[in-house]
Amino acid sequence: MSNQRRPLIAGNWKMNGLAAAAATELKALVAEAKNHSAPNCDILICPPATLVREMAAVTSDSAVEIGGQDCHGNESGAHTGDISAEMLKDAGASYCIVGHSERRADHDESNATVKAKAEAAHRGGLIAIVCVGETLAEREADKTLEVISDQVKNSLPSGATAANTVIAYEPVWAIGTGKTSTPDDVAAVHAHIRKELGSLLDDSDKMRILYGGSVKGSNAEELMAVENVDGALVGGASLKAVDFWPIVATSI
Ligand code: 13P
Repeated sequence: MSNQRRPLIAGNWKMNGLAAAAATELKALVAEAKNHSAPNCDILICPPATLVREMAAVTSDSAVEIGGQDCHGNESGAHTGDISAEMLKDAGASYCIVGHSERRADHDESNATVKAKAEAAHRGGLIAIVCVGETLAEREADKTLEVISDQVKNSLPSGATAANTVIAYEPVWAIGTGKTSTPDDVAAVHAHIRKELGSLLDDSDKMRILYGGSVKGSNAEELMAVENVDGALVGGASLKAVDFWPIVATSI
């Protein structure tokens, strides 16, 4: 972890959460956060879109921020079922995940689509968390760095800065599987992303690069200590405060 980059510990609830139980968990997280008057990291929860407004009310006077999990490229219009960045902002979000591998796979999202969504997030006043990551087949074919370069170059929004964009490296084979990359592998990919960013941005040293994929309390400390790892994007272990807080605690 570099001193010049403030860590971000982010939870992605994916398609999980009904109002009552979600509010209970988030209140527990907020209570933990309130024990730290000046946390050394940013804390974010990305609930399903149905809960953004309600969860933003729960976190309103705390250090915990709320984000969306996806947004449409347009501000409004005839796009049934979609949600714009402006709507997420209006509901209380300050971040939006774009290009998660589940959306790239389930909704055929290309790098160009992800880039447009990240630009839409900026237009709507949100910080974009742009996800990249290789599949198991790509890793086994020794294509990891090539795939990551392609995704970083082509998904990064125009006008990206360290203030408005975060990169999340999530190896697809590590998501929800209990498998994590070794610290050495994570270090190699994050260093590669940092180098790619260097050729694309002026303030690349300041951009945060998160690791995601089966992060939990028992492995978070080791992963957060890896060079160029500036936080975590957490799925399963973010659903309950008792599981998520120990991950936050590695960086607070
Ligand atoms: P898990 O932490 O459940 O592996 O999910 C990671 C992820 O996809 C976060 O966006």
